[in-house]
Amino acid sequence: MMDCYKKLVVEKLNEYFDEYSLNSSYSKKIWDAMRYTTLLEGKRLRAIMCLEVAALFGCDVKKALPAACALEIMHAYSLIHDDLPCMDNDDLRRGKPTNHKVFGEAIAVLAGDALISFGAQILIDKMKDYLSSNIVLEVVKDYLETAGALGIVAGQAADIEAENKKIDFENLKYIHKYKTGALFNCSVIMGAKIAEVNSDTLAKLKEYAQNFGILFQIYDDIIDCTLTTNELGKTAGKDKNAGKLTYVSAFGLSEAKNIFYSLIQKNRDILSELDINSCVFNEIEEKLIKRIK
Ligand code: IPE
Ligand code: IPE
Ligand code: MG
Ligand code: MG
Ligand code: MG
Repeated sequence: MMDCYKKLVVEKLNEYFDEYSLNSSYSKKIWDAMRYTTLLEGKRLRAIMCLEVAALFGCDVKKALPAACALEIMHAYSLIHDDLPCMDNDDLRRGKPTNHKVFGEAIAVLAGDALISFGAQILIDKMKDYLSSNIVLEVVKDYLETAGALGIVAGQAADIEAENKKIDFENLKYIHKYKTGALFNCSVIMGAKIAEVNSDTLAKLKEYAQNFGILFQIYDDIIDCTLTTNELGKTAGKDKNAGKLTYVSAFGLSEAKNIFYSLIQKNRDILSELDINSCVFNEIEEKLIKRIK
């Protein structure tokens, strides 16, 4: 099922790029750069979670497909900017040279900027014909909130500020909640809103998504120091070298794993409270667990 969702999303992303990219040699480079990172092989977790939530609550996944694509587009923006020399200064992403290594720093900055508005544009253009304007407005608002200084940007700024500083757990929780949690939250919430779930369910799903965001970043912090560059498709051991505040730097590897597992358990409980049995969520969980074992 995950592969099936993934295929749908990648096909649709290709279609959107073909449809929207300007046909001029003057702007070819920027569209190539936007397409490059977005379409490199990734897990597509955010898109998959959005589609799965919509499907679990009886919505045709096609209705959630523009949102799933917009989430991947926002994710690509965050990766391009995260890798810039002034941020994490990474050379490798998704097993390939980072955006600025291929297209230069200025184009990489612009590609990130352009992807944010591209995602919002897709949401409006592609959802307006079959979802009520209320839902479209809500979803676009969530998207914009997540992309900016109430979401990813807040977390990324705090992440950079915390480099090589003393460990402060509140600060660490804040960083993970925003730099990574905000987008997972948005993914689940968008799927839920498109499927028009009730407010109690929405609140529970939000809790699930917020826990997932934190446990996912803990997972990412763990594999940064346990897997090889080849296995990661990005440079191993970056966090320690950069003096990043992570669950591993704060608590050590084994306690970071314990916290990860306790969040996994919390989320299992939330899904059973909601009476949800999702092969897709189970598969995602298993994949993460397998990689930190
Ligand atoms: C990487 O996310 C960035 C983080 C929030 C840790 P993913 O590990 O989901 O990256 P892709 O999309 O599979 O490349
Ligand atoms: C991920 O943090 C946050 C965003 C990309 C927004 P990291 O800096 O740990 O992500 P990776 O490890 O470079 O993918
Ligand atoms: Mg970073
Ligand atoms: Mg990084
Ligand atoms: Mg990382």
